[in-house]
Amino acid sequence: MNLMQPFKSELGLTTGIITPVSHVIRRSLSDMRGMYADDAATERILAQEGDRLIYEVYPVDLPEEEGHILHSTTIIYPGRVSDEYHMTKGHFHVKRDRAEIYLGLAGHGYLLLQTDAGEVSSVPMQPGTIAYVPPYWAHRTVNTGSEPFIFFAAWPGDSGHDYGTIEKIGFAKIMVERDGQVALVANPKYI
Ligand SMILES: [Fe+2]
Repeated sequence: MNLMQPFKSELGLTTGIITPVSHVIRRSLSDMRGMYADDAATERILAQEGDRLIYEVYPVDLPEEEGHILHSTTIIYPGRVSDEYHMTKGHFHVKRDRAEIYLGLAGHGYLLLQTDAGEVSSVPMQPGTIAYVPPYWAHRTVNTGSEPFIFFAAWPGDSGHDYGTIEKIGFAKIMVERDGQVALVANPKYI
């Protein structure tokens, strides 16, 4: 057995940044080509205002192995692509029966979940919300507010990330602004 020594990290409750910073995952609009419903709007933004930062992930550096509990924070910046709110790519776990816990820290948004059969569920999140991703549900988060939406997440070390399935089929429903309100509507691109 390789005995790891106990350690701690510090979380900035208002910034969402975990220190020490091991590495930062940054997803810009160009990393998410094809994921928003309005591809023309994506290309228009890229051409006119450049490559917008959509979200950042600050992970704690740990082995991706059974027994560990991986954890990170995510900061989704506010904004929309056409009428669709900024969101994460979303994924299934490679081991589909691995769950995840989210804790809302700042801002407002939604956890969107989807099964392999295409059933969709949405959970509103605000500071203090503990949202549970049960086994077998793909998950994505969406910033529906006007401030950065920041949350903490923890999941089993051997979960793995399957981004490909969602990149290919999308979510059956998307979160958009309709008449000034947040609305969950059918995704015209869902396969
Ligand atoms: Fe996950």
